[in-house]
Amino acid sequence: MKSTAQPTVRDVQEYWNRRPCNIGHSKLEVGTRDYFDEVEQRKYFVENHIPGFAQFTRWKGKKVLEVGCGIGTDATNFARAGADYTGIELSGASLKVAQNRFEVFGLKGTFIPCNAEELSNYVDKRAFDLVYSFGVIHHTPNQRAVVEEIRKVVKDDGEFRMMVYAKNSWKDAMIEGGLDQPEAQSGCPIATTYTEEMVRELTDGLFEVTEARQAHIFPYVVEKYRQFEYEPQPWFAAMPPAMFDALERRFGWHFLITTRPI
Ligand SMILES: C[S@@+](CC[C@H](N)C(=O)[O-])C[C@H]1O[C@@H](n2cnc3c(N)ncnc32)[C@H](O)[C@@H]1O
Repeated sequence: MKSTAQPTVRDVQEYWNRRPCNIGHSKLEVGTRDYFDEVEQRKYFVENHIPGFAQFTRWKGKKVLEVGCGIGTDATNFARAGADYTGIELSGASLKVAQNRFEVFGLKGTFIPCNAEELSNYVDKRAFDLVYSFGVIHHTPNQRAVVEEIRKVVKDDGEFRMMVYAKNSWKDAMIEGGLDQPEAQSGCPIATTYTEEMVRELTDGLFEVTEARQAHIFPYVVEKYRQFEYEPQPWFAAMPPAMFDALERRFGWHFLITTRPI
């Protein structure tokens, strides 16, 4: 009989340990300087909205906590810009790569293996100017618990920025049609997609949403992308850039949410 049990934190952890997010963004040897440079180049080429959302340079001299740092691409940029950086991560395999990355580039940072649903047991309370979480919260079983924990550790005059997947998106429609999957690796245990109403419920009584916008439609032929070739699908290639931009703003996969504590 097929099990109907809900995925656990352990399932999520094992999934990301099998293949850390973006680990295949370069074919070079993992852990080399060139490898990390190529990973970063590919990530910000394909997801070019990230630097604008993270605003790396704004956090110079400030305490930044990243929830779910993965292999540390954004981490590197916060630290390079002069932030006092802490990253937490459920996947030990990912965290190891992020730590190694900081060593390779001579960057300072603190890395803590933990489940974000129990965050305040691992980091100081009311301590961070920015809590940043990109593409993480929608993967964990108790998503509201993560936001409650983030509220405990962010300063009262701090900021919380997160990206969660958007329900009202091109990608969600393709997944529903059996034409796509949420992650590069199949079998992702949990990948919730959010409506505006769900974001309100997620943050209710904890954070006030000051900006919410959508970005990011992946336009490339996947088989070619895997070979590091960036050929747009014919239907996107035919589209004037202004039309594609409008489509991304309305149906982008990434719901970029900026909030302040209540
Ligand atoms: C799509 S990846 C994003 C990683 C990184 N933020 C990035 O943008 O490259 C999702 C990450 O969330 C982490 N994650 C999922 N649930 C978590 C939890 N409960 N606590 C901490 N990290 C979690 C996973 O281990 C994985 O590294």
